Amino acid sequence: MRRRAIIQMLVIGVLAGVVTGAVAVIVPWLPDAASEQADEIDAVYWFVTIICVAVFALVAGVAVYSGWKFRAKDDDMDDGAPIHGNTGLEVAWTALPVALVVAMSIFSIIVLDRISTVPSDHRTIEVKAQQFAWSFTYPELDRTEGDLVLELGEPYEISITATDVIHSFWVPEFRMKQDAVPGIVTQTYVTPTKVGTYQVICTELCGLGHSTMRARAIVLSHADYEKWANAGKGGGGAAPGKTSGLAIFTDQCASCHTLAAAEATGTIGPDLDTVLAGKDEEFIHTSIVDPNAELAPGFEPNIMPSTFGDSLSDAELTALVNFLLESVNA
Ligand code: CUA
Repeated sequence: MRRRAIIQMLVIGVLAGVVTGAVAVIVPWLPDAASEQADEIDAVYWFVTIICVAVFALVAGVAVYSGWKFRAKDDDMDDGAPIHGNTGLEVAWTALPVALVVAMSIFSIIVLDRISTVPSDHRTIEVKAQQFAWSFTYPELDRTEGDLVLELGEPYEISITATDVIHSFWVPEFRMKQDAVPGIVTQTYVTPTKVGTYQVICTELCGLGHSTMRARAIVLSHADYEKWANAGKGGGGAAPGKTSGLAIFTDQCASCHTLAAAEATGTIGPDLDTVLAGKDEEFIHTSIVDPNAELAPGFEPNIMPSTFGDSLSDAELTALVNFLLESVNA
């Protein structure tokens, strides 16, 4: 009788474990995995998740079954028979969790070591974070961009710093995340494995514009990367897709500014339909490259990055100024 109860209990627990484990694996919880590091991190994630789900379901299954099967009858107020320790059981429920935790730790340490080792033959990209923008310097190409552009399959060292407060560099599809701290340079490593456009996200609360502090992470095939790298020779070229003033505005400015012509409704910076109305080309140009030169009433200095003069090429800057000029005087 007792043996039968234990077998029933275990069957329910194991079934619950299998079902919950299947749900954990089938539902797509994670963003796309687009780097070698992501594949390794996901392997640890799934290893730990499956163990935890199985243990949870087993414990919950046994507890629920026991509560139902061994509940007291209405007229039975006895404490029941006294229970003595079971040495075998105690050894088992101590040794098994220890073995699981040790296995998870060893796996994690191995992966942590692999993803934090400088890859040989890597390229370096210098990342600068500031309220509330990213800039990416490519020393080999001698240029700085507002986009993170990577070549498929190439190992990269991402070298990160900040100019004002602490920010944090994160591309969910790469899984790699690293703080950007003023005064020191931190590193992270990425070998992209999927062509596509992802988002660089600031993941450290850094001020009013934190939630808008995004940039594009673009992974290009070898041929497209060559095209991009060569296009930029002799002065910062446009990243793929940025051709018109409207496109540049939407990409770089719309999250903070309101501008009817671009259907932008940002409120972190001034409403451009108001503050740029009737202004000339020179004023608009200066407002972009040197935003502290003349502040709109009610706005603090240094909210807008002063790096657009570097991160935008001359052609992009001209396109953006002309677009704004036309938009506010339409
Ligand atoms: Cu930078 Cu949050």
